[in-house]
Amino acid sequence: MARAQPDPYRELFERSADAILIIEDERFVDCNQATVEMLRYPNKEALLRTHPSELSPPTQPDGRRSFDKANEMMAIALERGSHRFEWDHMRFDGEVFPVEVLLTAVPRGDKQVLHVVWRDITDRKRLEEQLRHAQKMEVIGQLAGGVAHDFNNLLVAIMGNGELLQKKLTDRPELAEYVEDMIKAGRRGATLVRQLLLFSRPQSASMEIIDLGPVLREVHRMLERLIGEDIQLVVEPCTEPLPIRGTRGHMEQVVVNLVTNARDAMPRGGTVTVSLRRVAITEDSIGAIDQLAFGPYALLAVTDTGEGMSETVLAHAIDPFFTTKEVGRGTGLGLSTVYGIAKQSGGGLAIDSALGQGTTVKVYLPLRDDEPLSRDAPRAERHARGGSERVLVAEDDAIVAGVVVRVLEAQGYTVELASDGADALQRILERPGGFDLLLSDVVMPRMSGPELVRELRGRGSPLRVLLMSGYTGDGLMQASELGEVDLLEKPFSGSELVLRVRDALDKRG
Ligand SMILES: Nc1ncnc2c1ncn2[C@@H]1O[C@H](COP(=O)(O)OP(=O)(O)OP(=O)(O)O)[C@@H](O)[C@H]1O
Ligand SMILES: [Mg+2]
Repeated sequence: MARAQPDPYRELFERSADAILIIEDERFVDCNQATVEMLRYPNKEALLRTHPSELSPPTQPDGRRSFDKANEMMAIALERGSHRFEWDHMRFDGEVFPVEVLLTAVPRGDKQVLHVVWRDITDRKRLEEQLRHAQKMEVIGQLAGGVAHDFNNLLVAIMGNGELLQKKLTDRPELAEYVEDMIKAGRRGATLVRQLLLFSRPQSASMEIIDLGPVLREVHRMLERLIGEDIQLVVEPCTEPLPIRGTRGHMEQVVVNLVTNARDAMPRGGTVTVSLRRVAITEDSIGAIDQLAFGPYALLAVTDTGEGMSETVLAHAIDPFFTTKEVGRGTGLGLSTVYGIAKQSGGGLAIDSALGQGTTVKVYLPLRDDEPLSRDAPRAERHARGGSERVLVAEDDAIVAGVVVRVLEAQGYTVELASDGADALQRILERPGGFDLLLSDVVMPRMSGPELVRELRGRGSPLRVLLMSGYTGDGLMQASELGEVDLLEKPFSGSELVLRVRDALDKRG
């Protein structure tokens, strides 16, 4: 007996990955298997028994009632023959998800039959959202980059002059206090600029391979001071090495930002748990977190038992400047900074939170198991030592130049000032061996810092160089081609300057 040929149209319907339904008189007549799976119904019969309106949440993303809007969409489809639009549907378990709907009106006698196709666009929406976020970060980065150079110069002047003044006020504590506040404000300004610049600098020159374990150990004590007495801090360290690419300062900042948020979410106390462990991201990892490549990761998770986030807050939490805190309590940069830092290290971020359920923020950083750890930078506060060497300062910004010269002279150095790179080059060529160190700005008229260095190296000058970089979207990051050059990131304090000048001089020879 010949087997019946399968009906190709029936197959087209049944095997489609898009959900296909037929509606007649506001009732489902038929649907394919994809519909049942998309809506996670136990079976087709149960689905067909429901009223179409039961498959939507009460309202749509634009705030309109689903019922009213559905009628309008159907009316449009009937009038035009078909209509395509985005819609929020609701699965059997209550989860709301976005679909693209194609409604086709088919006249049948005096009745209208509707052919409905749904395509689940959850992934597309997520990608769109990520793109939107990335673009926003980029704009902020550009903005920050635009003002950072000037802003950092101002901060150098404020902090540097403040420190000079402070030294002169040791016998006037009542005045020294004002200066102290001024310097503190300058430092906060510096932190803010650094945070914003994270979005514009794809990679900072100072990235190293570091072990996360010790970073968490060192920041532990600071965390205890940060949280109040009502909050219990639990730290779950990791005994395995967790080598990642980043900077210690950034990683500390990540922990501090997350624990600060946890603290703020628990005004009546609770527990914050900071844990660190090694995980593998594989195909099976739920939702392939934040589009991360498969492989081994360090997972830093900060969990609190606080108030949690609503869906709206969760959707915007990592947006720069998004805050629910009152003016003066939050800038809204905490999570976006964490996100920026994670991205720089090649990692990503995932947040689990619901109102009343507490929050877990997970930071994934790819492990660099095969790369050697960078040598430990000296961490302890070192005392800045002066000297009697001759330093040539190339800086076009008069205020910055003024502070730098004053700070160095106060330490015993003989300082000469050049107004730009070309001026500096001339002085060096006129007096070979006349200077022990060139302390140069990066962005200057006529000849930039890197150009100056290249010129010097081209002429075989071994002069030691310390570059002061403000924001430089330009060539600084290719500094490696300049050979042995040290970098001092603006804005710096007077004591940092003295420290780094001494380091640079001591490396000589
Ligand atoms: N652990 C948390 N629990 C509940 N809500 C949180 C948590 N972390 C962040 N949020 C929410 O996300 C918002 C953004 O956080 P983010 O750290 O970026 O900024 P902020 O804390 O408001 O300000 P800033 O960190 O700049 O001082 C917060 O205002 C808060 O509404
Ligand atoms: Mg915060």
